[in-house]
Amino acid sequence: MITRRRCDIVRVVVLLLFISGTVRIVQANESGLALKIENLDEAFVQEVAPGDFRIIIAGEPLERVTGAEFPALRDLEIKLQNQKNQANSSDRKINALLIAMARIADEPTLIYLHELYESYPERRNDVAEAISWYAGENQRRDPDWRILVRSLNVVQGAQAKAVMKALTRFHRRSNKAQWIRQVILVGLEQDAEGQQIAVQLLKHWTGLNLQQTTEAQPSPLSVWQNWFSEKYPDEIAALLPVDAAESRWTYQELMGELQKRSKEAADLKLGEQSFVKATCIKCHRYGKVGEKVGPDLTHVSRRLQQREILLATVFPSHFVAEEYPTFTIVTDAGKTLTGMMGAAGPDQILLLTGEGTKQLINKKEVETIIPVKKSSMPDGLLNLLSKEEAIQLIRYLAILPEGASQAYRHTSR
Ligand code: HEC
Repeated sequence: MITRRRCDIVRVVVLLLFISGTVRIVQANESGLALKIENLDEAFVQEVAPGDFRIIIAGEPLERVTGAEFPALRDLEIKLQNQKNQANSSDRKINALLIAMARIADEPTLIYLHELYESYPERRNDVAEAISWYAGENQRRDPDWRILVRSLNVVQGAQAKAVMKALTRFHRRSNKAQWIRQVILVGLEQDAEGQQIAVQLLKHWTGLNLQQTTEAQPSPLSVWQNWFSEKYPDEIAALLPVDAAESRWTYQELMGELQKRSKEAADLKLGEQSFVKATCIKCHRYGKVGEKVGPDLTHVSRRLQQREILLATVFPSHFVAEEYPTFTIVTDAGKTLTGMMGAAGPDQILLLTGEGTKQLINKKEVETIIPVKKSSMPDGLLNLLSKEEAIQLIRYLAILPEGASQAYRHTSR
C-alpha cells in the first residue's frame, strides 16, 4: 500500500516536471552531455562514451526512430536551434541530438536531415557529420553520398574526418575534378591523421596508389597535388589560397572577426554602402540593386555559408563557377584583353572586363582566344574598405535582402 502511494507521488512529480515544459540540460558528470527530450517520457540524449550519443528512453537505448519519436525529436532540435540563434547555447548539444537521431534514422528523419541541409547552409557541417554516422552504421544510400560529397566545401576538423571516412565506405566514387580537388584541399588543412584519411579517399576514388617521391615533401598530399595538375591541366590547381602581400585584411582576420560578431545584429546600412564602395554593385545583382554581369547574389545566403561568401570575395579565383569562364583575347594588333565573353551580333564579341567595363571587338581582328583559369572578379576589392566596412559587407550578404523570395530553395550544385 505504502509503496503504491509513493509511486503515485513520484508519478505526479514527473508529470509536473513535464507540464513545466522547459528543456532541461542535465550536465551528467564525467560521461559528458545528457539532454532531456520533451514530450517523451523519460527520454534523454546521452553521451554513453566520448562522442557516442544515444537516445535513451526509460533506460533503454532507442533502436530506431519511428513516427512515435520523430516529432518530439524534431521539435527539440528546432527549439535548440532557435535558442542558439538567440544566445550562447552550445553547438554540441544540437550536434549530439542530430547524431543520435541520424544513427537510428528512419525515412522521415532522413528527409528532415536533407531538408535542413538544403535550407540552412550554416547547418551543413552538422548534418553531414550526422549523415556520416548513418552511413557508417546503416545503409549507404546515393542521396546521402551526394550530401557528403557536397559538404566537402564546408566541413573542417573532426567533421571533415568523419565525412571523408564515410565516403571511403561507399562503393560509389567520384571522378569529377572538382570533388577530387576538394578532397585534396580539405586534406591539406588537416593534421597528420586527417591527411591520411584524405589520401585513403583519393585512393578509393581514383584507384591509384601514389607513392611519395621524396621524404622532404611536407604532406602525403603533395604528390596528389602534383598528380592533379598533370591530370587536370585545365582546372585550377589544388592549392590552399594565400593572402596577397598587399592585402589590407587577411582572410583569417576577417573570419575571426565575423565569428565574434555572429550574435550581434548586422549594420545593414554600412553593408549596403560597402557593396557600392567596393564596386560589387557593378557586377552583382543583390535584391533590388546591381548589375547581372556575375552571379545574382540575392539568395546567396541560401546557397553558401558566410564563410564561403567571405572566401569567394577574398579569393575570387579559388573557385570559379563554370558558368562564368574567363578568356584572354589577343588581337592582330597584339592587344590583349581579358574578361567574360557575351554575345554581340554576328561580327563582334562583347568582352566584360574585370573593371566592369564592356568592350566590343571585331571578330576579324581576333587572333586567338585563350581560356584563363582565373575569375573575372578582381582580386583585392576589400582593400577599398575599412575592416568594419568589409565585415558589414559580408554580413549584409549573409541575410536575405528586400526583394528576395522567402520561398527560394537551393537546388544542389
Ligand atoms: C567585375 C565584375 C565583378 C565584381 C566587381 C565583383 N564580382 Fe563577385 N563575381 C564575379 C563573377 C564573374 C563571379 C563568378 C565567377 C567566379 O565564381 O569567380 C563572381 C562570384 C562571386 C561570388 C560567388 C557567388 C556564387 O554564387 O558562388 C561572390 C560571393 C561574390 N562574387 C561576391 C562579390 C563581392 C562581395 C564583390 C564586391 C566586393 C564582388 N563580388 C565584386 C564578378 C564580379
